[in-house]
Amino acid sequence: MRLRHFESLRPVCPVCRVAGGSEFPLRIATVAREENGHIVEAALHCTNPLCLREFPVIDGIPLLVSNLRAYVAANILSIHGRDDLGELIESMLGDCCGPNSDFDQTRQHLSSYAWDHYADLDPQESATGPRPGSMVRTLEIGRELAGALPTGPILDVGCSVGRGTFALAERGDGLVLGVDLNFPMLRLAAGVLRHGRVRYPRRRVGLVYETRDFPAAFEGAERVDFWACDAAALPFAAGTFSMATGFNLLDCLAAPREFLGGLGRSLKTGGKVVLACPYDWSEGATPLEGWLGGHSQRSPMEGSSEEFLRHLLQPGVNAQAIGGLELTAERDHLPWFVRLHERSMMTYSLHLVVATRTADRPASENPKPTDTHEQLRSPVL
Ligand SMILES: C[S@@+](CC[C@H](N)C(=O)[O-])C[C@H]1O[C@@H](n2cnc3c(N)ncnc32)[C@H](O)[C@@H]1O
Repeated sequence: MRLRHFESLRPVCPVCRVAGGSEFPLRIATVAREENGHIVEAALHCTNPLCLREFPVIDGIPLLVSNLRAYVAANILSIHGRDDLGELIESMLGDCCGPNSDFDQTRQHLSSYAWDHYADLDPQESATGPRPGSMVRTLEIGRELAGALPTGPILDVGCSVGRGTFALAERGDGLVLGVDLNFPMLRLAAGVLRHGRVRYPRRRVGLVYETRDFPAAFEGAERVDFWACDAAALPFAAGTFSMATGFNLLDCLAAPREFLGGLGRSLKTGGKVVLACPYDWSEGATPLEGWLGGHSQRSPMEGSSEEFLRHLLQPGVNAQAIGGLELTAERDHLPWFVRLHERSMMTYSLHLVVATRTADRPASENPKPTDTHEQLRSPVL
């Protein structure tokens, strides 16, 4: 964690926000280890005397989640696990744990995301064959469509292993923060930040992975940081960010509509949101009631997720609009590649939207529900 990010972004206690909506800033109580300008191990405290919760910084990553005990319990193996073992021992452990074990799933996720994010920098990566970088290419289109921004920091939600966060810093001059809940992915991102190297298990086939380790340096990296935060409870005051991105995220969340509300709130007036999604809804990630489209094809929107999202992003005409966000641009059918192994690649088709945070207006000026909005309710689950 960088002091500059902590002091500028002034994170608030996620527990107080969830409990009563009040905002109390966190303070750095103890720094146990610092390296080259990074706070690597520390304790942050809530400044509310009735709360006083503490939050650790581990491997340079502050854990700013409302239920810290549950998060640590669920992630203790990756938090406490070692990442210094060589390929020989890792492969033996992988064989012992077997397919679909937590160990194997973590390696698969790291393999897929680190490949798309960083394999363009890997000297061992073949110049022929599938081309990595699909997420960054989508980000570039979104950044271009977003145009001018108010001054202020940028938030990359669901940053995974972090290349998009670095790419945003390369294309601007403000602070950029990547947040995610997946600790192994955040640790890889923080490793790139602190050591300027990518090290990841690249899956060849089955349980066979090869360790890839190569340098990665990005212009503006000194303006980047990575924190563990829940997209559903972002620990920031209203109006903090000039732009927020969420690539391939909406269909991973339990409550995407509420996420959009929180995201809008976190933006300055005139700030931009860039979202891209393949609408690959699953009950494992999002209860059906939370899906944006993808069900109730009897509705006027015929279950279209694109239409559903457009409908939510019209504050001038829609009483149900979300977070003061107004759709300002979109693109469709952008390819996103998820490499599974040497002979398997999933291709998704992304819908990208850019929305602008409009100024808050008095409640009396809010649009009244129209017939269309009433109609939308009836045949929808
Ligand atoms: C499909 S991946 C996309 C990653 C990256 N944006 C990209 O496009 O390559 C979704 C990411 O969102 C993260 N995520 C899921 N739920 C989250 C939540 N509630 N808060 C923060 N991140 C979350 C996952 O850990 C994962 O890294």
